[in-house]
Amino acid sequence: MSSTLLTGISELVTNDELLEGAEHSEHLGRLSDAAVIVEDGFIAWVGLAAHAPQADERRDIGGRAVIPGFVDSHSHLVFAGDRASEFVARMTGIPYDGGGIASSVNATRAASDDQLSALVGARVAEMRAQGTTTVEIKGGYGLSVKDEVRSLRIASEFTSETTFLGAHVVPPEFAHRRSEYVELVTGEMLTACAPHARWIDVFCEPHIPNAFTEEEARVVLSAGRDAGLALRVHGNQLGHGPGVRLAVELGAASVDHCTFLSESDIEALAAASGTTVATLLPAVEFSTRSPYPNARRLLGAGVSIALASDCNPGTSYSSSIPFAIALAVREMGLTPAEALRAATLGSAKSLRRNDIGVIRPGYRADLTVLDAPSYLHLSYRAGVPIARALNLS
Ligand code: NIG
Ligand code: FE
Repeated sequence: MSSTLLTGISELVTNDELLEGAEHSEHLGRLSDAAVIVEDGFIAWVGLAAHAPQADERRDIGGRAVIPGFVDSHSHLVFAGDRASEFVARMTGIPYDGGGIASSVNATRAASDDQLSALVGARVAEMRAQGTTTVEIKGGYGLSVKDEVRSLRIASEFTSETTFLGAHVVPPEFAHRRSEYVELVTGEMLTACAPHARWIDVFCEPHIPNAFTEEEARVVLSAGRDAGLALRVHGNQLGHGPGVRLAVELGAASVDHCTFLSESDIEALAAASGTTVATLLPAVEFSTRSPYPNARRLLGAGVSIALASDCNPGTSYSSSIPFAIALAVREMGLTPAEALRAATLGSAKSLRRNDIGVIRPGYRADLTVLDAPSYLHLSYRAGVPIARALNLS
């Protein structure tokens, strides 16, 4: 067992509301001139550098800020192909309608295992280089038994937070047989995929014909729960709809997008704040020219929120949590502290994890370093690559 003392931390954001001697405004548990001891991948000690005990090794962080590693609780990294032209068309006013998903499905099915694995690996590395230390990865671009199992197998090479999304859209070969596709997803596909997944998700969106209705989504999620998977929902992305209501009704851990919320959706989310997190994905609003939801309002109402990238080839080909934080501050009304907390502790909560998202003894030593004196620079220096995950070995 070897321990490392990290010193030279100008500002340490811990998210630990109980940390003695810390500055507790906005719940960040901040320390200046701090030190951390890491032992075998876990936090062993946190405090002022002047009080640090001995450790086997020492490492100087060089007067930088250290924050909990970002938890990206929503991504679709298992895909091949390119949809840049779809993005360019959207910038000229063509609305997003999910039609491009079929092209990603074709390219993904055509890719070899090695090609897909290399693509996912490169995207995970890109995330880590921008400060993300935990990532959830969904399937959903295979949409056949074989291709969904393969997507989850490849995702499992990189994370334990894998999500079965056979109910992303109805694939073209089932276009006139929707109910048969729902039977496949809840039957043979679920049985084959469940051993490779922790979560099940569904694209519940009445505004897109090949996504799933409230009733179909309820059937899919219930089958997933019976198979031992925990629940996540894509909801309220393209207009008002049943996604939030359904997620709360079924006790899902997260309902993601939440772009269009009614008063009753907000009330339901507030009442379910100990169970269901509203995950905001501002890079999607950016990339689809959608209105940004008012995150300040959600926090004011008592809703638990998370921030994630939704990195995917259609609505957000951005792997950057700092970008999401900057957008949340600029466009969604969050303070820099609220945005950072949502992208760390909030996302950890949406994954029902209590070993990440906080820098406290006993938690995983998932640390992100900023080439900056303070976490405020995450949104202040938007677009500048100041965040990176700290490699300890
Ligand atoms: O989270 N909304 C559904 N799925 C993805 C986008 C899928 C795509 O366009 O490729 C999302 O936005
Ligand atoms: Fe998504």
